[in-house]
Amino acid sequence: MSEDKDYYNRGGMLAFAFSMVFVFAFFFYLVVVNKGVDLGENVVDPNAQTANVVVAFDIASVKEPWVSTPELVAYGKKVFMTNCAMCHGNEGKGDGVAGVNLNPKPRNFVEGQWKKGPGITDHFKVLQVGIEGGSMASYAHFKAADRWALLQFIDSITTNKSKEDPAKVAEFAKTAQ
Ligand code: HEC
Repeated sequence: MSEDKDYYNRGGMLAFAFSMVFVFAFFFYLVVVNKGVDLGENVVDPNAQTANVVVAFDIASVKEPWVSTPELVAYGKKVFMTNCAMCHGNEGKGDGVAGVNLNPKPRNFVEGQWKKGPGITDHFKVLQVGIEGGSMASYAHFKAADRWALLQFIDSITTNKSKEDPAKVAEFAKTAQ
């Protein structure tokens, strides 16, 4: 009888011991091992300049805007759409609404039948002084970097591209305002 009782208690003791081990192990896991879920982890601060936010292209940071880059071309296209497309057309084909009745007609940039020379420095001079006897005005009031960006865009769409030596363009650009 007493033996049975001992045996019975030993079993209960064993079960109790195991459950305690389990409880302590689980407690240890919760407190020490498991790091939990960081609720702050995926919260995006709308004011933070994170990698997900496309940082605006800053033309002022471009040291040599006479050297074409995809960013300059994209920026030049924006300036073109706002200031030139009404005459030269959204695709630069010389067919903008404000140019319909002009004589001579706005240049079709894609064809690129240049009147004042085919080089990018020739185009820059056109933007400095305009073209006499017509509606192509001077854009000398635009920042030089903006004018270079415009010309990078035009050069990207024309089939009659500038073949000027980059070294000569750079030399010209450093003094051209
Ligand atoms: C009011 C209409 C008008 C606007 C706005 C205009 N242009 Fe023109 N542009 C012309 C006309 C017209 C010609 C052709 C003039 C000619 O053949 O004598 C021309 C010609 C040109 C040429 C050709 C130069 C060459 O050697 O043949 C370039 C480059 C040019 N424009 C750039 C621009 C840029 C860049 C802008 C915007 C900043 C601009 N134009 C805005 C009307 C316009």
